[in-house]
Amino acid sequence: MQRVFSGIQPSGIPTLGNYLGAIRNWIKVQDDHDCIWCIVDLHAITVWQPPAALQQQSLEMAAVLLACGVDPARHILFLQSAVRAHAQLAWIFNCVARIGWLNRMTQFKDKAGKDRENASAGLYVYPNLMAADIHAYHATRVPVGDDQRQHLELANDIAQKFNHDYDVEFFPNIEPLILGPAARVMSLRDGTKKMSKSDPSDQSRINLNDDKDTIALKIRRAKTDPLPLPSEPDGLADRPEARNLVGIYAALTDTDHATVLREHAGAGFGTFKSALADLLVEKLSPIATETTRLLDDRAELIRTLKSGAERAAAVAEPIVAEAERIVGFLSMR
Ligand code: TYM
Repeated sequence: MQRVFSGIQPSGIPTLGNYLGAIRNWIKVQDDHDCIWCIVDLHAITVWQPPAALQQQSLEMAAVLLACGVDPARHILFLQSAVRAHAQLAWIFNCVARIGWLNRMTQFKDKAGKDRENASAGLYVYPNLMAADIHAYHATRVPVGDDQRQHLELANDIAQKFNHDYDVEFFPNIEPLILGPAARVMSLRDGTKKMSKSDPSDQSRINLNDDKDTIALKIRRAKTDPLPLPSEPDGLADRPEARNLVGIYAALTDTDHATVLREHAGAGFGTFKSALADLLVEKLSPIATETTRLLDDRAELIRTLKSGAERAAAVAEPIVAEAERIVGFLSMR
C-alpha cells in the first residue's frame, strides 16, 4: 500500500476550501492507502498565534478532522510539534534547498505581502519544513488543494538534490493528489481570490462550524453576475464567481461542472444559490454537530493525538536517523 501524508494548519476553523480541496479527499483515500494526517502547529507559528488560541485551535482541528471521517484507528492523526523528527529533518533540508528556490514561492510572496523584511524567517523556510513532513515518512502521495502544488514541486526538488549530493536513492518522488472540481475554492466576495481562513472578511468564506442561517446568508450574499447559468462549462470561462459556486455544488454532489450545468442550465442565481445553500447545510451540519460532541471530551482527543504521535514517531525516527547518518552526523548509539 502506498503511504499518504497530508497536513493542515491549526490557524482557525477550517473553511469549505480546506474541506473540499483537501479533507474530503483525505477521507476518500483512507480505504486503499496507509495514511498519516498531521495538524501542523510548527507551520502555524510562522505567523503570530496567541499561545492559548493555538492550543484550543489544535484541539478543535483534531475534532473537526475526526468529525469529517478521519479514522485514527486504521490511520495516524497527530500534532506535528509532538514528533521531533519533523524539525530535525527540516534543518537538514534548510541546508539542501537553495535561496533562489525559496524566492520563487508564490505563497511566501502572498503571505509576507509588502512588509517582506518583517516576515518571520520561519515563513520563508516554511516549504522546507513541509518537505520534511512528507519525506520523514517516505510518503509518496500527498492529497492537497491546488495552492500547494508549487510547495510539492519544491519537496521533490529537495529530495532529488539530497539524493544527488549524497549519492543515494533515499527519498522517493512524491505525487500530488489534487482532485475534484473544487481543488481551488474561491472567496465568496471575489472570485479571483482563494477562500482562506485568514481573509479579514468572514463573509468571504464558509467555516465548517457555521450554522444553517449563517450558511444561507453567506451564499445569498455571495458575489455573482446578472446572467443565468450556461449549459456548458465553456460558458463559465470569464465568470469566476459563477464558476466557483458551480464547482462547489459539483464537489458536494460528487459530480463535475458539466453535470451540474446540465441540471441547472438557464437558472438564475436566486434559484441556484438556494439549492446550493440547502446542499451545504445538509453536508456540513452533521460535521458541526459531531465536532461539538467530540470537543466535550478533551481527554479522549488528547489520548487520540498521543497515540497518533507515538505511532508517527515510530515511523519517522528511523528514517530521519538514516538521513542523519547519510549526511555524516556521528552516531553515539
Ligand atoms: P492549509 O492549512 O493552508 O490548508 C490545508 C489544506 O486545504 C487546502 N486548501 C484549499 N483547497 C481548495 N481551495 C481552497 N480555497 C483551499 N484553501 C486551503 C490546502 O491546499 C491544503 O491541502 N502547507 C499546508 C499544510 C502542510 C502540508 C504539509 C500539506 C504542512 N505540511 C505536508 C501537505 C503535506 C497548508 O498551508 O495547509
